[in-house]
Amino acid sequence: MNPSSSTATYKRLEGKVAIITGGASGIGASTVQLFHEHGAKVVIGDIQDNLGQAIADKLGENVAYIHCDVSNEDEVCKLIDTTVAKHGQLDIMYNNAGIIDGSFGRIMESTKSNLERVLGVNLVGPFLGAKHAARVMVPRRKGCILFTASVATAIAGLSSHAYAASKGGVLCLARNLAAELGQYGIRVNCVSPYAVVTGTMAGVSGAEAARAELALSEVGNLKGQILKAEAVAKAALYLASDDANYVSGLNLLVDGGYSVVNPSLMNFWTTLN
Ligand SMILES: NC(=O)c1ccc[n+]([C@@H]2O[C@H](COP(=O)([O-])OP(=O)(O)OC[C@H]3O[C@@H](n4cnc5c(N)ncnc54)[C@H](O)[C@@H]3O)[C@@H](O)[C@H]2O)c1
Repeated sequence: MNPSSSTATYKRLEGKVAIITGGASGIGASTVQLFHEHGAKVVIGDIQDNLGQAIADKLGENVAYIHCDVSNEDEVCKLIDTTVAKHGQLDIMYNNAGIIDGSFGRIMESTKSNLERVLGVNLVGPFLGAKHAARVMVPRRKGCILFTASVATAIAGLSSHAYAASKGGVLCLARNLAAELGQYGIRVNCVSPYAVVTGTMAGVSGAEAARAELALSEVGNLKGQILKAEAVAKAALYLASDDANYVSGLNLLVDGGYSVVNPSLMNFWTTLN
């Protein structure tokens, strides 16, 4: 989208500088677009250089792309330092980059190497992002650190053990950071989506993607709605903005109530009638 065609009338992030990891695709890319529309200067950190650079080129001078593998501390450090050198500050650090491992196997079939790979991106990455963001936010005594966790933080049996462990770790990390960083005025929160059809579902595109979205909607709790990346971006926008200026330590579930509803017993009663 061309910046001049921006639709946000009330710009909720005017004057703020945001880093979004995993901003080259899916939820991250939608959030880059939305934060940009709301007046933020945005830096995308990702490993998909062509996609990330193309988004930056399309959105103009207030969006930049920097190659950053979030599991590599030197690269995370450089992402933060380059952003501060360019814009003079960092207000929002959105640790969103993540991978879904394809295997939904049982514990006895799960491998240590896969666990380490998933934790490396999904937990070590956010840990490093938060650490180096805090380094520049604490002296300013303000800032906002966000994570994309998952509905798997609130209900079991939806993913591989490695993925569930990584996202559970992210949630506990966020809460612990909220405890430490509150004294500096820094808010720390998670956005936890139900299933969204994005780039993590490799190979799913076009009609297949639409069918997958419908199927996910049908097994979801909130009927007649499809969860899109844009809706997750809106939740991140709320948490990043001053509208949430006293919100910290929250796991904001964007799941249509899925994690608090278990229809199996009600379905059983219905079969008896
Ligand atoms: N899609 C879903 O159903 C869903 C549900 C709950 C949570 N999530 C979480 O949302 C986040 C975004 O996922 P998405 O669905 O938009 O997927 P996506 O694949 O579209 O986007 C993920 C982005 O992260 C980047 N990335 C992967 N490894 C990286 C690394 N080592 N360093 C830097 N960037 C890296 C990818 O290149 C990609 O651009 C992830 O943390 C994911 O676990 C997704």
